[in-house]
Order: sequence, then structure tokens, then C-alpha cells
Amino acid sequence: MIITFHSYKGGTGKTLLSVNLAISLANKGKKICLLDLDFRAPSLHAIFKTAKPEYWLNDYLSRTCKIDKVLTDCSSNYVTKGKMFVGLANPSTEAIQEMVSKDRKWEMKALGRLLSLKESLLKELHFDYVILDTSPGLQYNSINAVVSADIVLVVTIFDKSDVEGTQRMISELYELFKKKTGVILNKVPIESLPSKNPKRKQIDLETLQLPMVGVIPCSCDILDAKGECFLAAEKPNHPFTKTLQKIATKIEHYQL
Ligand SMILES: Nc1ncnc2c1ncn2[C@@H]1O[C@H](COP(=O)(O)OP(=O)(O)O)[C@@H](O)[C@H]1O
Ligand SMILES: [Mg+2]
Repeated sequence: MIITFHSYKGGTGKTLLSVNLAISLANKGKKICLLDLDFRAPSLHAIFKTAKPEYWLNDYLSRTCKIDKVLTDCSSNYVTKGKMFVGLANPSTEAIQEMVSKDRKWEMKALGRLLSLKESLLKELHFDYVILDTSPGLQYNSINAVVSADIVLVVTIFDKSDVEGTQRMISELYELFKKKTGVILNKVPIESLPSKNPKRKQIDLETLQLPMVGVIPCSCDILDAKGECFLAAEKPNHPFTKTLQKIATKIEHYQL
């Protein structure tokens, strides 16, 4: 199954959640492939510093190499049960500029390449889940990752324009491609969490009219980690890990 993390705005937590969902699913004994498809702002290379791949995902999409030259097995450092492989995007300035300037024709070919990658990862390499971390918004490479998905997880913050953008993407993009969609509301101030503080105005999730699968508070533990946060690996009883485990179980049972 392919799970794509997407969002309307940037910085909502896609990368953090992709990494930690990958760990949570692997710890259920699954074989996971986590791919950085955010070619505009690659991130996973800075998180999985020990991964030193021969090739980047950029090379795979340009037909320079096969996928086995891109993937690195990161299981031993992060997961206790299953397997977790990671594929990185090239973070060099030249590579980012090159990817940003690709035209529609190239992106159409890249979609074909991504769809055949999906087949080989699931059917030949026997991954249970492939998690795609993408760029925000409606550019071609994000839409390609959405089109390739079985499930789209949209990460939004409690911000009027982000919530509106998410609602629009649901009706104009994910429904168009008939994708199962779940929304994760991230970075919620602790005091605004439903049922935390009866005296304070709380977020009414119903009014957002979004297919919610998880609500995650803004957490100092995450901020302190400066973007290198593996709570799902390091703190199994942390509320963040518990929420991701619940999302992982929903995905396992396809309850979105
Ligand atoms: N729930 C949270 N609490 C605190 N900080 C968070 C939370 N979620 C994400 N962050 C931080 O916000 C920043 C952006 O997250 P990131 O996953 O890189 O977003 P995106 O991939 O959507 O651009 C990172 O520094 C990350 O650690
Ligand atoms: Mg990111």
C-alpha cells in the first residue's frame, strides 16, 4: 500500500510524521519503504545521516539507475521488529534548481516511472507500505505522489488559510482521483485540545468538516529535537507515539 503525506502549506509536519509513521508501522513487524519526494526541499538526508546511498531518487526518476541503488536499510538504528528502508532526494542546490525547472512532459514521464516503482516495491521487493513524503501544494511532483497513493494523509495546522486549502484539496484533488484521505491536525496548542481545559475555548473538530484521523499537540520534545525527532523509536509511551500508533492501526485496517 502507498501512503502519501501531503499538505496545502509548508512546514505543517509532513516529514516529521512520515518518519515516525514509518517507524510505527515497522515496529508492527512490517517492511516499510520511506521515500523523500520533496525535491524542492529535501529533508530525509539530514535526518538519516548514516544513509550514504549510491544514487538519489532524482536519478531513479531520470532513468539513471535502478531503485535498489537508491534504497538504504536503516532498520538497525530505528526499529525493533520490522524493516525500514529509506530513499533520499538530492539536496544539492543544482539538483533542486533542476527539479524545479522540469516541464510538464518530464513530470508525466516521472509519473509513469513512479507508478512502475510502486509495482516493483510492492510486488517484487515485497514492501508492505511505501510512505511518500512530498512537497506542499499543487505542483506536478506533489500531484504525481497523490496520484500514486492508495491513502493520502494530509497534514494541516489550525490556521484558517491552511484548513481552507485542505478542504479545497479534498474536494478538488483527492476526491477527483478517488483517494482515501485522512487529515492530521498538527501543532495544536495543548490548551486548545478537546477536553483538556474546560475553561478555555477548545477546537471544535466537527466545524472543520475534515475527515480527521489524528490530532497532535505542539510539543516541546519535538521542538527540542531541532527537526531530528524519532519519538516513535525512542519514547514508546509518549502521547505523540501513541497517536501515531493509533493512525498506524487505522491504516492497517484501512479504516479511513
Ligand atoms: N507537533 C509538533 N510540535 C512541535 N514541533 C513540530 C510539530 N510537528 C512538526 N514540528 C516541527 O515543525 C517543523 C516543520 O516540520 P516538518 O516535518 O519539516 O514539516 P514539512 O515536512 O511539512 O515541511 C520541524 O522543525 C518540526 O520538528
Ligand atoms: Mg518536509
